[in-house]
Amino acid sequence: MKDTQHGYSALSIWLHWLAAITMIVLFVLGQAAEDAADAERKTLLGLHISIAMSMYLILVARIGWRLHNGRPTLPSQQSKPLMLLAHWVPVILLAGLALMLVSGPIMVWTKGFPINIFGLISLPSPLGKMDTLHEVFEVVHKIGAKLLFFAFLLHILGVLKHLVVDRDNTLKRMLVPIKK
Ligand code: HEM
Repeated sequence: MKDTQHGYSALSIWLHWLAAITMIVLFVLGQAAEDAADAERKTLLGLHISIAMSMYLILVARIGWRLHNGRPTLPSQQSKPLMLLAHWVPVILLAGLALMLVSGPIMVWTKGFPINIFGLISLPSPLGKMDTLHEVFEVVHKIGAKLLFFAFLLHILGVLKHLVVDRDNTLKRMLVPIKK
């Protein structure tokens, strides 16, 4: 069932929460790996990379579904700046996600390593070791993570505003699917 003007279908809601939870897990794993000692860092990064590669499927599914569906109208009329934020924050979140999913693999491959997905699939580097490019994409990945986190915070603040100030059904729309 498709989204309508009034709310989201079950598939849209599942995809939204699956992407949100996966992104939080990736943040935590990425950050923990940065702070960890060598042996632990390897395990955490392996998990980070494997889960991140699964995120491609979620992203493709979300974009495909969104193109097929369109987007429900925003729930309430707000001031122009807030309407702009409400429109652009999800777009920035999706773009930030795409940036992470592009910079991540390039970062691994330019180190000369294959991408190993849960020990089941190995994607060898088509690039070989390229130190300068590796450093550039390492910075892109770090900045991308910060931007994504900032957009994520704005998104949460927006939801809280709807919940506490406007007291409308914005959060409920993302929890309860519309009926046929
Ligand atoms: C939504 C997708 C992703 C998110 C949110 C994410 C998030 C993060 C974060 C927060 C860090 C720590 C950065 C820092 O120190 O500030 C990190 C590091 C890292 N990520 Fe990701 N990541 C994603 C996708 C990927 C992908 C697809 C790959 C590779 C296939 C990858 C490989 C790595 C590696 C190798 C590091 C360690 C970088 C270093 O050595 O400094 N990430 N990631």
